[in-house]
Amino acid sequence: MNPPAMTSSASVSVWLILLFGFFHLHKLAANVEGDALNALKTNLADPNNVLQSWDPTLVNPCTWFHVTCNSENSVTRVDLGNANLSGQLVAQLGVLSKLQYLELYSNNITGTIPEELGGLADLVSLDLYLNKLHGNIPAALGNLAKLRFLRLNNNTLSGTIPLTLTNIQSLQVLDLSNNNLTGDTLPVACNLKFYSHNYVDKLL
Ligand SMILES: *[C@@H]1O[C@H](CO)[C@@H](O)[C@H](O)[C@H]1NC(C)=O
Ligand SMILES: *[C@@H]1O[C@H](CO)[C@@H](O)[C@H](O)[C@H]1NC(C)=O
Ligand SMILES: *[C@@H]1O[C@H](CO)[C@@H](O)[C@H](O)[C@H]1NC(C)=O
Ligand SMILES: *[C@@H]1O[C@H](CO)[C@@H](O)[C@H](O)[C@H]1NC(C)=O
Repeated sequence: MNPPAMTSSASVSVWLILLFGFFHLHKLAANVEGDALNALKTNLADPNNVLQSWDPTLVNPCTWFHVTCNSENSVTRVDLGNANLSGQLVAQLGVLSKLQYLELYSNNITGTIPEELGGLADLVSLDLYLNKLHGNIPAALGNLAKLRFLRLNNNTLSGTIPLTLTNIQSLQVLDLSNNNLTGDTLPVACNLKFYSHNYVDKLL
């Protein structure tokens, strides 16, 4: 056999291995968000089949109904208001690093608000109102520096309103009404900056 041909076929093999390795890694990376949303789907009962298109074997979740992605195929919106969903939220939602809108209002969702939601640095709107969520409002939500809408009203949340919420300068609408929150409410939970720059809607 002639050595140049051997060399060339060996290097083709090496390239193929590298290429497959790359696509494999790329696919795994892209699927982190699909896996997180699939974990949510697995945790929810969906009698109206609104999550039917959520196929975890697809390369990313960007073609799923009720999911919107940016041009880099990162999830920016999850729109599942009024969908008759029950069950619980999952900590994995915290991996959706480009998420801007998490709309899950008007369902029958139980359990607690995962503190991992406090890691969603791009979040603009967190709408969990009209569900059956209980437990505390996680103090970590105060890390959501871009948040404009925080509506958690009409649940059975308890404990005190975390002071950290007053750190969110971008907040325009805060509705925590119709919960079971106790202790100091508006006076301690709001500082001057908060009052002057933001519209506080129906705080308790
Ligand atoms: C919501 O789901 C329940 C079953 O869990 C069903 O009885 C009810 O009719 C559904 N409501 C709507 C508006 O689809
Ligand atoms: C909650 O569940 C009850 C009973 O399954 C159903 O009748 C009701 O429509 C649900 N509410 C929402 C907002 O999905
Ligand atoms: C929220 O809860 C209050 C008090 O229970 C109730 O009057 C109101 O109708 C609820 N809002 C909605 C949209 O169901
Ligand atoms: C609301 O809080 C009170 C006092 O902490 C408690 O007794 C009551 O069971 C709570 N209600 C709900 C609906 O969680």
